[in-house]
Amino acid sequence: MTTPSVKSVLAEGRVGDPVTVQGWLRTARHSKGLSFLDLTDGSCLAGLQVVAPPELENYESEVRLLGTGWAVRVQGELVESPGKGQHVELRAAQLEVVGEAADDYPLQKKRHSFEYLRTIAHLRPRTNSLGAVFRVRNVAARAIHQFFQERGFVWLHTPILTGADAEGAGEMFEVEGGEAFFGRPTRLTVSGQLEAEIGALALSNVYTFGPTFRAENSNTSRHLAEFWMVEPEMAFCDLRGNAELAESFLRTVMKAILDDCAEDMAFFDERIEKGVAAALEHVVETPFEQMTYTEAVKRLEASGQKFEHPVHWGADLQSEHERWLTEQLVGKPLVVTDYPAGIKAFYMYANDDGKTVRALDVLVPRIGEIIGGSQREHRHDVLKERMLAQGLDLDEYGWYLDLRRFGSVPHAGFGLGFERMVQFATGMANIRDVIPFPRVPGYAEF
Ligand code: 4AD
Ligand code: MG
Repeated sequence: MTTPSVKSVLAEGRVGDPVTVQGWLRTARHSKGLSFLDLTDGSCLAGLQVVAPPELENYESEVRLLGTGWAVRVQGELVESPGKGQHVELRAAQLEVVGEAADDYPLQKKRHSFEYLRTIAHLRPRTNSLGAVFRVRNVAARAIHQFFQERGFVWLHTPILTGADAEGAGEMFEVEGGEAFFGRPTRLTVSGQLEAEIGALALSNVYTFGPTFRAENSNTSRHLAEFWMVEPEMAFCDLRGNAELAESFLRTVMKAILDDCAEDMAFFDERIEKGVAAALEHVVETPFEQMTYTEAVKRLEASGQKFEHPVHWGADLQSEHERWLTEQLVGKPLVVTDYPAGIKAFYMYANDDGKTVRALDVLVPRIGEIIGGSQREHRHDVLKERMLAQGLDLDEYGWYLDLRRFGSVPHAGFGLGFERMVQFATGMANIRDVIPFPRVPGYAEF
């Protein structure tokens, strides 16, 4: 049976409307002759206040037993709400218990730590915070598809099981039995990029959006072993076109979150991270800053800051450096380009200076790197040399080199870490709390 969502009742319901809703109780308060229930179905942050009067036939036998976590179906009439915030509440004429919650229901009214909530990932979507996060994720995912679809990008479904190490960094999960089954070693993909390049060199503009896996032992608030990545790839495109796409992409998706998740954003702003909504608006409204890696390193060296990791040309930027650049130096998202070849993947286009490649990272406040990408090396011989220099097995990448022999064109793309974007948008401190079922070193429950 479908009933209207709590969201639609709160938005459109008028006093006098007959309404049936179903959901779970966040709280149940029983006073002398009345029970007050806060009912949520996850469609929005706010719950619908239900007033259950003693005239209900099951008032003594059931209604007065109701507590947090119980599932109910309520039929009644909308009446004016004396409480603040909402203009209507539901006066129950019939209340049916759909599912009881046992006494040891762990989500009581008090605030629980996010660490604790991770241990009950089967129940945490019912909390305000996680419910809001998952609604934001959903809106962001929709906006991502919409952004690319409106621009004629083809969604390419790249494989999760793969033989290729797209980053050449050896951080892959091996698939046990892959060799026997597929006749070759098989792993979980770290990125759909190489396959997306195949797509771009036929369909011109493609994107992937799916789970990726990294077997890096990074126990940080920004790393997951399984995360979702969005990877557009464009033929006949250089680094500049790539940077332009990255900027309009991020701004469009963040605007969609502001527009469609206003209630949840107000919650994050008030309860999770003060100023997060304004920060998001700032990103939507302000053009990004851009500078080369070489310039960024100069600025870092001249900053007078004490960093845990020393900076010098040739070293990879650490999160502390990235954050200083985007937070302190420019105060907005920053696109850093043209990194030293030695710290970037084999597939990036080599600049004429013989030292740098056409890489691009987008850094945002609080998170640091949110996007990594590049123009790709489309010159066969240059690519081959680079792969040899990095010690890659050319037999493994024969098809990748082939693409450079049959109608090769300049092309470029990037990867957005979906969870890092949701983290930035919501202000959630730990990336484990913006994905329904986090996978991190030592933990893969549910
Ligand atoms: O910078 P990365 O490693 O780039 C690539 O994988 C390219 N092949 C993408 C491309 O050009 N098509 O990863 C891209 C983004 C990072 O900027 C970061 O936001 C996110 O993916 N990311 C992670 N997010 C969560 N947990 C991890 N362990 C992550 N590693 C990377
Ligand atoms: Mg990167």
